[in-house]
Amino acid sequence: MSKNFDVVVIGGGPGGYIAAIRAAQLGLSTACIDDWKNAKGGPAPGGTCTNVGCIPSKALLQSSENYEHAGHAFADHGIEIKGMSLNLGKMIARKDAVVKQNNDGILYLFKKNKVSFFHGRGSFVKADGGAYEVNVEPIGGAAGETLVARHVIIATGSSPRALPGADFDEKTVLSNIGALAIGAVPARLGVIGAGVIGLEMGSVWRRLGSQVTVLEALPSFLGAVDEQIAKEAHKLFTKQGLAIHLGVKIGAIVNNAEQVSVEYTDDKGVAQKAQFDKLIVSIGRVPNTNGLNGDAVGLKLDERGFVAVDAECRSSLPNVWAVGDVVRGPMLAHKAEEEGVAVAERIAGQHGHVNFNTIPWVIYTSPEIAWVGRTEQQLKADGVAYKAGSFPFLANGRARALGDTSGMVKILADASTDEILGVHIIGPMASELISEAVVAMEFRASAEDIARICHAHPSLSEATKEAALAVDKRALNF
Ligand code: FAD
Ligand code: NAI
Repeated sequence: MSKNFDVVVIGGGPGGYIAAIRAAQLGLSTACIDDWKNAKGGPAPGGTCTNVGCIPSKALLQSSENYEHAGHAFADHGIEIKGMSLNLGKMIARKDAVVKQNNDGILYLFKKNKVSFFHGRGSFVKADGGAYEVNVEPIGGAAGETLVARHVIIATGSSPRALPGADFDEKTVLSNIGALAIGAVPARLGVIGAGVIGLEMGSVWRRLGSQVTVLEALPSFLGAVDEQIAKEAHKLFTKQGLAIHLGVKIGAIVNNAEQVSVEYTDDKGVAQKAQFDKLIVSIGRVPNTNGLNGDAVGLKLDERGFVAVDAECRSSLPNVWAVGDVVRGPMLAHKAEEEGVAVAERIAGQHGHVNFNTIPWVIYTSPEIAWVGRTEQQLKADGVAYKAGSFPFLANGRARALGDTSGMVKILADASTDEILGVHIIGPMASELISEAVVAMEFRASAEDIARICHAHPSLSEATKEAALAVDKRALNF
């Protein structure tokens, strides 16, 4: 017998589970289907983000940074540690426990909000009389279910893209999944792709003792980041010990289970060969549309294989919506969440809205990199006249007290109106500092607005105020 709902959400990552909660809050009877399973085969909602993405990577970034500080930076504070050692098993187990807390938290939220959760794979069966029939193929031994709903939200996320000829075995050739669960620190770690995952995971294992080599196809480093910030990041990461090779062309990859060899041509066209104990391949991700059986209802994909949607996440089918990594736009958890909320509100007859111009980005390296809005190179390409102001953490009292003075805050404002067009930060706690910039841009603040706001002293946020003052060439502390 089928079960009827107002809304069925396929996928329980940040896009799907948040959409389901918001829909239920708005009084819609809601089901969420998710197929992720934990090591015991039980449900593990939260998707890539919770299980093998944002949360576990940040747990390991924190642990590995603590390890590095204990080994090096603490001595500067007069704290001398003798006989320090790494218990990698415990570090990984702690990361797994953090993940489980988040999985359990989502299951609790589903109960609290009366979202019906189905552990299984969802696929379209047919469209019938203004409603969609969705099959749930259960995980484990339970019986299958048929759900019927007027609205379906597809939130099936994305998976790592493999390099041809180098399948992920998650033992030697690793995607993000294996990279978060290496059992012993590899002496030589190769990383293909100097993007967000490559830099975050490369940082984790470098801090724990690996010799890390990063091979990047593009000739420039972090092309989407403001050039000045990317240059600073390249300098700092190289100084930390990441060997970053840009402009390479990857050739044959041979995985003999113990080691992996990578042939590549360097930026001068010279053939090179490198041997690694583990290889992380982080060259982007592909949308998960297999298994949805979209053909049964005529669901259209775009030319890149994403579910085709309009600006409001409507698919080619009436009342079928799609959010998060499975649709165009940045692959970020908070973007997926905002789309999920907006879609639930639209289904309920409200006017949900996502401002794509104010979605922040953060790379959780040390120092962190965070930005919102346009870069200098984008403003130049768009022909926008702008003023720039920046302030180094070297001149910030709190950063000195922390012992973490690398980087800067940089603000770009319209030359005539002073409206903030972009904020770019590399430095301590950039992930937290960027929120002020997002709020300012949402309210269409001018640089002068930030410059005139009282910021607590001593705080890292004073660097933002000083950068805003610097837009008008009147920084006080630099
Ligand atoms: P997902 O989180 O991928 O969830 C989709 C869910 O749907 C999964 O559980 C999947 O198994 C399930 N599913 C798929 N098909 C079906 C089906 N047919 N039936 C049932 N279930 C199905 N973003 C950030 O903003 N900040 C970060 O710090 C960050 N760090 C990251 C680190 C790593 C290593 C990685 C890989 C990604 C990171 N991301 C980060 C990106 C972030 O994880 C994604 O943008 C986010 O998870 C997308 O959410 P989603 O709900 O669209 O999809
Ligand atoms: P990415 O798009 O960030 O970086 C991929 C890199 O690989 C690019 O620099 C690209 O030029 C390079 N590349 C592509 N093909 C290559 C090849 N054949 N040889 C060598 N280099 C090649 O993708 P990544 O790191 O896989 O992450 C996927 C997505 O996950 C990110 O774009 C981001 O949206 C999300 N993510 C977000 C995080 C955050 O918000 N902190 C953390 C980790 C992931």
